[in-house]
Amino acid sequence: MQPTSIGIIGCGNISGIYLENLGKKFPGVRVRGCADLDLERARKRAETVPGARAMRVAELLADPEIGLVVNLTIPGAHYAVACQAIDAGKHVYSEKPLTTTRDEGAALLARAKARGVRVGNAPDTFLGGAFQTCRKLMDDGAIGAPVACTAFMMSRGHEHWHPDPEFYYKPGGGPLFDMGPYYLTALVSLLGPVKRVASCTRMTFPERVISSEPKKGTRIRVEVPTHVAGTLEFVNGAIGTLIMTFDLRGGSNLRNIEVHGTEGTLNVPDPNGFGGPVEIRKAGESDWSPAPPTHGYLENWRGVGPADMAAAIRTGRPHRASGELAFHVLDIMSALHESSDRGHHIVLTSSCARPAPLPVRLADGQLD
Ligand SMILES: NC(=O)c1ccc[n+]([C@@H]2O[C@H](COP(=O)([O-])OP(=O)(O)OC[C@H]3O[C@@H](n4cnc5c(N)ncnc54)[C@H](O)[C@@H]3O)[C@@H](O)[C@H]2O)c1
Repeated sequence: MQPTSIGIIGCGNISGIYLENLGKKFPGVRVRGCADLDLERARKRAETVPGARAMRVAELLADPEIGLVVNLTIPGAHYAVACQAIDAGKHVYSEKPLTTTRDEGAALLARAKARGVRVGNAPDTFLGGAFQTCRKLMDDGAIGAPVACTAFMMSRGHEHWHPDPEFYYKPGGGPLFDMGPYYLTALVSLLGPVKRVASCTRMTFPERVISSEPKKGTRIRVEVPTHVAGTLEFVNGAIGTLIMTFDLRGGSNLRNIEVHGTEGTLNVPDPNGFGGPVEIRKAGESDWSPAPPTHGYLENWRGVGPADMAAAIRTGRPHRASGELAFHVLDIMSALHESSDRGHHIVLTSSCARPAPLPVRLADGQLD
């Protein structure tokens, strides 16, 4: 079968690793075009991949060979760019979050359905070897029935390293919308959908000063909560505790994710990565044991989500990093912000199926 031709829109910071992987490591896809508002950026990225060339956005969307658009623009542009791709009859996979609001997310899924194309969305780190190992352990009953989980993302924000960090403090950014998708997607993959949420949020620093180049000294007006403490009740009855913060100024020893079951606890590594140590401690044991990986994709395999989507479109199966999963995660995040504003629990109206696990021992680059 011919590989699926991909067009990348948005050639900024994160596009490098996507191009490295989609351009060279998955036999089922090839990158044909790179586009950006800044054509020079698109040129630089296209030069890194054999067979790719820089295009204007309109040219990329009009190219009949491109079947799948990978939208790596900033959150505030995800919706508009994804709609353009859908209207051009292309399947579209966007970076996270799906959109900045639920209304846009729902409209996007409806638009794609009406046009007969698919929507996929980041993150795809839950397809990484560490998370698929955790998923298999849970599905095999290694910790019994899920009781509770914790998810902690303790950071000081991004203005000290990202060259264009403003978007992290605008709608669609903040610790919850930026990093929450990694944690929540991993948790939904492990535990299933969420039923209701409650939270308290705050914004500690209304202004941030960029300390990275080239915008060093530029001030950012913060428009979103930068510390979120929430509770999640999963449909299966498990209760999650979550803190997502950009307001940390000291340090933290809290672990990224733990899942507690009736027969043990699973220590899940940083979900903003593909590998990392998985540990398990069963009832009655006094220490943690390492759980060896049962799956590949242990390095930085960003792009495995759109590659899986391309493979799924070819064979007619559901893709794993789906629009429905991303919409449920967007609904959870929106509800967490809303709960704090309104002062009560928010019952979710969306749900989704757990994405199918990856088969064990796939070679890296393979998906079926
Ligand atoms: N930087 C990271 O480490 C990282 C990691 C994971 C995910 N992400 C996500 O990836 C996305 C992009 O992040 P980034 O860090 O690469 O941002 P960035 O600002 O470095 O790059 C975004 C690019 O999109 C282009 N763009 C914006 N609107 C556009 C439009 N309408 N049409 C065409 N091009 C447009 C910009 O010109 C820019 O080159 C965000 O959603 C972010 O949350 C970033």
